[in-house]
Amino acid sequence: MMHRILFVCLGNICRSPTAEAVFRQMAQTVRLPVVVDSAGTGGWHVGEPPHPPMIAAAAARGYDLRALRARQVQRGDFARFDQVLVMDRSNLRDAMALWRQAGQGAAPRLFLDYAPDCGLSDLPDPWYTHDFDQTLDLVEAASRGLIAALRAAQPPQ
Ligand code: 4NP
Repeated sequence: MMHRILFVCLGNICRSPTAEAVFRQMAQTVRLPVVVDSAGTGGWHVGEPPHPPMIAAAAARGYDLRALRARQVQRGDFARFDQVLVMDRSNLRDAMALWRQAGQGAAPRLFLDYAPDCGLSDLPDPWYTHDFDQTLDLVEAASRGLIAALRAAQPPQ
């Protein structure tokens, strides 16, 4: 079964494109069929590649973010994706408002719910903290949790 996952942050140039690339690569490694995308609640960076220091930090761990381009989340995304996973509670408020307008589809949820051991609900925004390695640490932990949850829901055939 194909799993369709959309990651959402504020700008779609730091956290959610990182989640898109990390989760896509991990899913590929375990041969989990996925469609993955990312988007921002804000539209300031539409069409731009990820933030250069985010690209560099991800590249150091073997993730290639260079081909990704920012887009803004839209109402239709809630019908197109099985899960819409947001990076912090501010994203959650914004995405919930859009989800209510959409009137259908999966309600947005916090990505870090898949990393209960990290003790955080909000993935800190490296646009402000400049801690791009923390972004990668948390995205990797939550991606592992999400992979485990999807595999548990779909036993091997
Ligand atoms: P992101 O980080 O939401 O992780 O992509 C941000 C990037 C840009 C801005 C805010 C957050 N901005 O205000 O331009």
